[in-house]
Amino acid sequence: MPFRLVLDPTDEPLFRLRQDEAGTPAPSPLSTATVVAQEIAAGRLTAAVWAPSGGPESGLALWHRSMVRVSKVLTLWLAPDLRSAAAYTALTLEVVGTGGPERVVTLPDHAAGLEERDLGAIVRPLGFEHVGRVRLAAAVESFPPAVLPEGVSLRAAGPPDRLSLIDLFERAYGKDADVLFGATLDPATDARDYLDMEIFGKPAWDRAASFVAVEGDRPVGSVLVQRTEAGPLVADLMVDPGRRGRGLGAALLAAVADALRARGETTMSLTLTPRNPSGAGHLYRRLGFVEVTDAGRRPGGLWVRTSFLREGGFRLLPEPGETPCQAGG
Ligand SMILES: CC(C)(COP(=O)(O)OP(=O)(O)OC[C@H]1O[C@@H](n2cnc3c(N)ncnc32)[C@H](O)[C@@H]1OP(=O)(O)O)[C@@H](O)C(=O)NCCC(=O)NCCS
Repeated sequence: MPFRLVLDPTDEPLFRLRQDEAGTPAPSPLSTATVVAQEIAAGRLTAAVWAPSGGPESGLALWHRSMVRVSKVLTLWLAPDLRSAAAYTALTLEVVGTGGPERVVTLPDHAAGLEERDLGAIVRPLGFEHVGRVRLAAAVESFPPAVLPEGVSLRAAGPPDRLSLIDLFERAYGKDADVLFGATLDPATDARDYLDMEIFGKPAWDRAASFVAVEGDRPVGSVLVQRTEAGPLVADLMVDPGRRGRGLGAALLAAVADALRARGETTMSLTLTPRNPSGAGHLYRRLGFVEVTDAGRRPGGLWVRTSFLREGGFRLLPEPGETPCQAGG
């Protein structure tokens, strides 16, 4: 496989941590180089393809385990001279051709230099669909108080909860994984990787605002929060299917609002798949969450099943003046 690591020469920060663990401002930007180095160190990087274009820096596609939980993500960086539909198509197919994951996800905000509308226009003919998540936010000051269901108590969530949260994750999401994530869930690896890599393993994990709900000894719900550039983000909210509809979801979110309010935060946000069949959208709106646009970014990314690409189901984007053609046909 052609593999040469190319780091972003502009050193453009992909994201910034707003606060460090102690809650003090930490302005240090995490550059693309740092992020790539972290991915390699954590063993998350599973493949990379470099697209030479004649210049010293050109394009890079990376797969890595992702917070999308179920597959790898294709992170794409394209040098200015490569920012075209043809380059994107070539790079995507190169990744898929190496026998990649079940699906490819591409995140607009990782595609440095490509506006989301441009990216959408480029990848939709390849069969990519928007995952369709929306970002919602609520004011913590006016967040409605909630009462915990009888017999349930909350405590701080942490790494010792790992195994029980993996189990809860499967019970909470397993049935609806296809709607929520576009793929079947492998609880043995996906829930574990998600918790280890995206929650407990990240400095952005907000330990003081993350809770587990227990009934007796048994975890029946949890809410996990991360610090992001846009403020506190509820990365995950789940309630055991057998314990739903008793106000536990609302109580977990109210506990987050209390913790954030106590340290002077004003808002909290989360992302929602509108088709979520468990009624999450209804709950969020009742609690005062409203849709926000995040500087033009739509979270969730665009995804496509790789079998669709391998089997030539996509349409190649025509060069100006040409008519579209079917791949493989
Ligand atoms: C979303 C979730 C955490 C809610 O937990 P919960 O303990 O049932 O929450 P609550 O009891 O506080 O509130 C649920 C609300 O949704 C309503 N509801 C329940 N099932 C519903 C459904 N299938 N469709 C629409 N509304 C539904 C309930 O009536 C209640 O509304 P109300 O308070 O106005 O009566 C839980 O359903 C869950 O774990 N879902 C799977 C994981 C998930 O998708 N998490 C959210 C990711 S964005």
